[in-house]
Amino acid sequence: TQVVAFRGAHQAGIVTPAQDRMHFVAFDVTTDSRDDLVALLKKWTEMAERMTAGEQAVPDGAIGAGDYSPPTDTGEALDLHASRLTLTIGFGPSLFERFGLAGRRPAALAELPKFTGDSLDPARSGGDICIQACADDPQVAVHAIRNLARVGFGTVAVKWSQLGFGRTSSTSTTQSTPRNLFGFKDGTRNIKAEDQGAVDEQVWVAGADDQEWMAGGSYLVARRIRMLIESWDRTALHEQERVIGRSKGTGAPLGEKNEFDPLNLDAKGAGGQPVIDTDAHVRLASDEELGGIKILRRGYNFTDGSDGFGHLDAGLFFIAYCRDPQKQFVPMQLSLSRNDALNEYIKHVGSAVFAVPPGVQDDGGYWGSTLF
Ligand code: HEM
Repeated sequence: TQVVAFRGAHQAGIVTPAQDRMHFVAFDVTTDSRDDLVALLKKWTEMAERMTAGEQAVPDGAIGAGDYSPPTDTGEALDLHASRLTLTIGFGPSLFERFGLAGRRPAALAELPKFTGDSLDPARSGGDICIQACADDPQVAVHAIRNLARVGFGTVAVKWSQLGFGRTSSTSTTQSTPRNLFGFKDGTRNIKAEDQGAVDEQVWVAGADDQEWMAGGSYLVARRIRMLIESWDRTALHEQERVIGRSKGTGAPLGEKNEFDPLNLDAKGAGGQPVIDTDAHVRLASDEELGGIKILRRGYNFTDGSDGFGHLDAGLFFIAYCRDPQKQFVPMQLSLSRNDALNEYIKHVGSAVFAVPPGVQDDGGYWGSTLF
């Protein structure tokens, strides 16, 4: 059960029950040669399949390649299990400006608009290619990205990367709901893998949507969201719960008893005020308020030390998968960025969007073979 299948109609790492740890990397493509890029994607596919099975990046690469050349596997995962490692690749809008791909860019893969309050650092945004590594052991995830980046030398260069130390979402009904750094259960009303209807409707791209090569794929939106921990920590519990719209202890919607009780957005309390505030996060993000839109959230907590002002550089590395970011993530974030009570306590500092191609199947395919 420690090995997640690499091959399939869809890439692993999307509806796979969210692992505990993440290493996410965005690359720039530095070559002008389409052949070199395709060769790297083929090599990456072989390495990724082996590593997700708990094997070395290259067979016997750590010590078997001879005493007088650098090992072809860096070795730090030698004694570790597969740890449910998944590796998921995506292609950014900028990639489609090159390599003759302009006509293959789906409309859904537009750059995201600037949202109110965005404070984006270009050095933590964008990228031609992303790889999301998730595993239950952080060293396994880091080993995978390190070895993929290593063989990419000369073809791609790391633009930015992010480590996540704890999942902030559950993507399966078999999982308990974890907590984010504000101390609230996160993922309660997420799309779950078992809800096939929602997954088909809101996560997987269909061939008829736009570009046939994306059939069975999805789109990934990444946002590095700084959480203003110190302000939050000085905020009263009552206010924290009002901002989210749920109880901190149980995770139940305000006014209800249990975590999975339905949101009652119409409930009024004493004095006729809505029990779940008009600017509460869960109200504004709910499909009831957004005409049925949902996304599959798969984010991670991060802490990257302190920022030089004595504040934790911590937050939520938000990852969402959806069938069309323009129709799902964008309207959702437009509404949140304007009205969410949470905005007083968070700041979006990084952003990227990627087309995640379908899975590799037993037909000689490789990562992105439907595109190239
Ligand atoms: C729900 C926290 C950012 C979309 C929730 C919940 C919490 C939470 C505690 C309630 C539990 C649940 O149902 O999962 C946060 C924090 C954020 C953040 C701390 C930033 C640091 C975002 C962003 C989006 C988003 C950027 C999308 C653009 C959602 C959605 C729900 C949700 C769709 C489910 C709402 C429902 O249908 O009940 N979030 N969130 N969140 N959040 Fe966030």
